[in-house]
Amino acid sequence: MGRRGKTRVAIVGCGPIAHRAYLPFLVGRDDVDIVAVWSRREETLRKVSALYGISACTTEFEKVLEKRPDCAFVLTTCETHPKYAIPLIESGSDVLCEKPMAWTIRDSEMMVEAAAKSGRILMIGFNRRYSVPYARAKRFFESGVVETCVVERVKTTGRPRCVAEDIVHNLDLLRWYCGEPLRVWAAAAGKGTGVPAPARHSDTRPFSVETGGPADFETSLVAAVSFDSGALGVAAVCFSAGRWHERTSISGGGRTAVIEAPDSLRLITAGEDDVAVNLTGSTDSWASPAELKGFKAQVEEFLECHLSRRTPLTNGADALKSMRLLDRVCREAGIPALE
Ligand SMILES: NC(=O)c1ccc[n+]([C@@H]2O[C@H](COP(=O)([O-])OP(=O)(O)OC[C@H]3O[C@@H](n4cnc5c(N)ncnc54)[C@H](OP(=O)(O)O)[C@@H]3O)[C@@H](O)[C@H]2O)c1
Repeated sequence: MGRRGKTRVAIVGCGPIAHRAYLPFLVGRDDVDIVAVWSRREETLRKVSALYGISACTTEFEKVLEKRPDCAFVLTTCETHPKYAIPLIESGSDVLCEKPMAWTIRDSEMMVEAAAKSGRILMIGFNRRYSVPYARAKRFFESGVVETCVVERVKTTGRPRCVAEDIVHNLDLLRWYCGEPLRVWAAAAGKGTGVPAPARHSDTRPFSVETGGPADFETSLVAAVSFDSGALGVAAVCFSAGRWHERTSISGGGRTAVIEAPDSLRLITAGEDDVAVNLTGSTDSWASPAELKGFKAQVEEFLECHLSRRTPLTNGADALKSMRLLDRVCREAGIPALE
């Protein structure tokens, strides 16, 4: 706790997600003092300083540790999360780290172990759980039974391991709604877009939307999972979709919830009128997409847990279970696993 009781915060990594989902919600808070912002590049820090009026910027990670922040946000690339999260935890900071936790199960375990040993909070950025439609659907089924859950996320992008990096959101939601996984089936493939048909048919490698040609990585991934609750779940991602779209449907016991992210939810109960909620149109017409996707509430949860010492919903130990499910899915699909 710093000046006038403010929480002293550090931000490690200033890529797209920092700008879209964290900095806007942190700079506006009068209970937060941003004491360090770290990037590898001066150019990135100049931009952050100009946009948000933050002066405490550095390219030296040691200087972040020296500031002894109460809370740190680790927002770098996935494989570098443990490199920054663990020293921060060990030097006394609570850490909110973006998903996936790391690119190996061992690294993810080490992050959880570091938090347990030092009594610090490790929270992972599974922001969907904090988004209103997803949370309301969860409450809708608290007194019911989930029999099937289908989580679909599609968009147009492409880089190695992007499907695994993203399907972890779907898998975490499946676990949240359905329980712990039993059997797992998965397959990965590529989708051709704008690629001449003969090439598409003769070349079985996945296709990259960005190059219009074969990609050396998978662009779609589907997993089917049975859960200890008896529920069955499907997670699907496709990165040659032409547009971003996220849809989740949960059914069972005479009920269905359909979420069209980020802002629409339909709750269906047998024999009753449907309840339709459009958050952009009703609750808060000024809400940004990042807010609707749960990022603002996620920041609030982290800061509140720091003060109250409550364990966050998406704590490291729980997130590790989603990482283990991701590892199983990758192995089943024959794509690089988390080893
Ligand atoms: N929750 C969500 O819905 C969501 C959405 C998007 C992304 N994410 C996650 O957020 C994380 C960051 O993603 P992003 O989209 O912001 O972009 P990113 O390209 O994955 O990386 C963010 C920043 O990390 C820095 N960086 C790159 N390589 C590095 C290295 N070897 N060591 C240290 N820093 C390095 C770069 O900044 P400098 O060059 O300035 O150092 C880069 O701008 C990822 O884990 C991603 O999966 C989550």
